Amino acid sequence: MTAKLPQPGELDPIETASRDEIAALQLERLKWSVRHTYDNVEPYRRKCLDKGVHPDDLKSLADLGRFPFMTKSDLRDNYPFGLFAVPVKQIRRLHASSGTTGKPVVVGYTENDLNNWANLVARSIRAAGGRPGDMVHVAYGYGMFTGGLGAHYGVERLGCTVVPMSGGQTEKQVQQILDFRPDIIMVTPSYSLVIAEEFERLGIPPEEISLKVGIFGAEPWGQGMRAEIERKLGLDAVDIYGLTEVMGPGVACECIESKDGPVIWEDHFYPEIIDPETGEVLPDGEQGELVFTSLTKEGFPVIRYRTRDLTRLLKPTSRSFRRMDKIVGRSDDMLIVRGVNVFPTQIEEQILREPRLTGNYQIVLTRDGHLDNVEVRCELQRELTGKVGRGAIEEISRSVAHHIKTIIGISTRVQVMDFDTIPRTQTGKARRVIDQRPKLQ
Ligand code: DLL
Repeated sequence: MTAKLPQPGELDPIETASRDEIAALQLERLKWSVRHTYDNVEPYRRKCLDKGVHPDDLKSLADLGRFPFMTKSDLRDNYPFGLFAVPVKQIRRLHASSGTTGKPVVVGYTENDLNNWANLVARSIRAAGGRPGDMVHVAYGYGMFTGGLGAHYGVERLGCTVVPMSGGQTEKQVQQILDFRPDIIMVTPSYSLVIAEEFERLGIPPEEISLKVGIFGAEPWGQGMRAEIERKLGLDAVDIYGLTEVMGPGVACECIESKDGPVIWEDHFYPEIIDPETGEVLPDGEQGELVFTSLTKEGFPVIRYRTRDLTRLLKPTSRSFRRMDKIVGRSDDMLIVRGVNVFPTQIEEQILREPRLTGNYQIVLTRDGHLDNVEVRCELQRELTGKVGRGAIEEISRSVAHHIKTIIGISTRVQVMDFDTIPRTQTGKARRVIDQRPKLQ
């Protein structure tokens, strides 16, 4: 199955179709995808047999709720190619996600899968405001990570000029942006701040930077971070979402005209929100774990894949497809501090209420006897470092700790440090949490 490519400057007709048309297409594709997986992926067929469901039971979209989930451990248990639905010879490309523990997750794409992926990233860049003829600087890492190559082929598909820079070498990144004058950058939000700092160091103000749009994803980032990036780079910051298991970047992308959460490309991915404890499907608008079923993938189809990302499904606005709210965090990133559930992005939001601080921060957890201690390390903006007195620093620290306490409900020690003291990510995702608490036996 291959998506129809929009004419330059046009939307794909399905992006503005009626909800009935979308649902009809989804059901047709869903039936194909479930059957394709059942017939060709033995471990999934076994799960269906155990649960007593068969592809013939799928008569409406709601029937999907009767089918078993796929999880990351299914992928690990069948490492490397055990969940592929086509012979490896028909796979044109492999990608992998490293993960922090255990074996990596390996995924494979057929020629049609790669074609659909390029079309969806092109559609995403189009939604973010890109047009044929634009120049796009790609600073997502190239290689087994899906970010670099995923973005790359989408840029070319839209008819733009790609600068395949990859991550790292910050000085060279900035020099190239100055020399080539790209219109768009695709990069993780945390690394975009590292790039912004290099511009600052060179004394180049945001209005002299050629970039008009940034397409940021691969890690959670809140509205405060959006404002910080937009101010420092002088561009519109748009959110792109995706994950290796489901495709890579371009599962969903925000529209520049509304900036109200990534639009899920529902003609290729069917979303559900479930209660992470019970697995029950929740109504739109309620927060829970995001689950995806691929509708067109041939090589590595996923049926009800549990992403562990926590968010809500929102009504359509700029397109006919539903949107997702900003990811609050992953169920496995959630910190439990003295019994309170906390996501790093909640702390980020409170730090960024204080304009004298940058978006670089770290949360260090230690344990004193039975009690958890939380230290929040944040940084002064460059121009303030060395210029504000101890009194002001204490005032910032008290005010951030107060906001965290009243809004999130935990006591923290907020340490305000000089600019550039917290380690920067050089290539990709930032490490926000350092958990030094002893593991419970
Ligand atoms: O990060 C794919 C990607 C590359 C997306 C470039 C966007 C841009 P993974 O390495 O498999 O794939 O990590 C996927 O990253 O489950 C989320 O937890 C997180 N994530 C990705 N995009 C966003 C986003 C890529 N826009 C995991 N907001 C996902 C929040 C995100 N979290």
